[in-house]
Amino acid sequence: KTTAAIVTCGGLCPGINNVIRGVVMALHYFYGIKRVIGIPYGYEGLNPDIGHGFIELSPEKVKDIHQFGGTFLGSSRGGQDVSKMVDTLVNNKIDMLFAIGGDGTLKGVNAIGEEINRRNEKISVVGIPKTIDNDIDLIDESFGFETAFDVASPILRDAHNEAAGAYNGISIVKLMGRDSGFIAASAALAMPVVNFVLIPEMDFQLEGENGFLEVLRRRLDRKKHAVIVVAEGAGQHLFKNKNVIKDASGNIKHDDIGLFLKHKIEEHFDDFPVTIKYIDPSYIIRSAPANSSDSVYCSRLAYHAVHGAMAGKTKFVVSTVNNRFVYAPIVEVTKKRKKIDLESEFWFSVLQSTGQPFSIK
Ligand code: F6P
Repeated sequence: KTTAAIVTCGGLCPGINNVIRGVVMALHYFYGIKRVIGIPYGYEGLNPDIGHGFIELSPEKVKDIHQFGGTFLGSSRGGQDVSKMVDTLVNNKIDMLFAIGGDGTLKGVNAIGEEINRRNEKISVVGIPKTIDNDIDLIDESFGFETAFDVASPILRDAHNEAAGAYNGISIVKLMGRDSGFIAASAALAMPVVNFVLIPEMDFQLEGENGFLEVLRRRLDRKKHAVIVVAEGAGQHLFKNKNVIKDASGNIKHDDIGLFLKHKIEEHFDDFPVTIKYIDPSYIIRSAPANSSDSVYCSRLAYHAVHGAMAGKTKFVVSTVNNRFVYAPIVEVTKKRKKIDLESEFWFSVLQSTGQPFSIK
């Protein structure tokens, strides 16, 4: 093999630049591969009709990029015509493609791999699972996830200071995670100042004696402040076309669970003065540089990814399972998304640490 390409797709995630750097370094120093092409702006960069050009990657060019968040190559969401993307690889004599991305990206690179096989080409395609959401099935963890809750936890500490500094102060912190609550739950566990963690895996009621709002009232009666962490995908069952929130100038349909909760709390406590602070650090978290633990993980992922590709393996992800690096077929890890098991020791630890009543269900 002589030529590699690297593409980064989807939302930002701490550690992307570490992986790019690691892949370039391992190719160069381990295998003497000098031609490494950076594909700009995700799969768009592989579509010749869009034509973003290529970025030549060398150790000199990438040596410092791990210091920065974001992606050195740029990213985009969504797929592109598979056949055109394979044409680009073939026409440019690329024989290894490293795709750094989440669920959609991995399915995309698998489709590229299938088209390559149909054409009897010998191009290895490798997926490196990247998402702060940690929702890739079967693997221990996706890179960026640890940094995400690491960056989130001091924000929770400060949110607690805000809440505790006011009489009946409430801080609501919204965290990302798509349809999984891993970031919210892990951040709460890492910074035990949180009293409620609302996650997509758990439907909860707002109204009634054991509904969230009355449980919150009882908490305020006792402690005079509360910290609520809400995962962006939580409470979908509450929206279902019936909770349209109107602003002064007309109809706005809120599907932002954080703002929705804030509104519901304000409404519920109109007889009971509360001070609510709403904090949404989502994009700040996602674009942070990797912490030390993710940096180590990213370098090791890159190293193993390069060895797999050089060995001629294709359509696999590199990751750890039970703390061992493995190559797993992309089709296996993309069948469904990983979610928090509400019967797991992990979730019970979150409930115990927050003191969140089991009854909010
Ligand atoms: O999947 C990564 C992620 O950061 C999710 O947590 C979030 O739902 C999504 O991307 C938001 O991405 P964007 O605002 O770029 O569409």
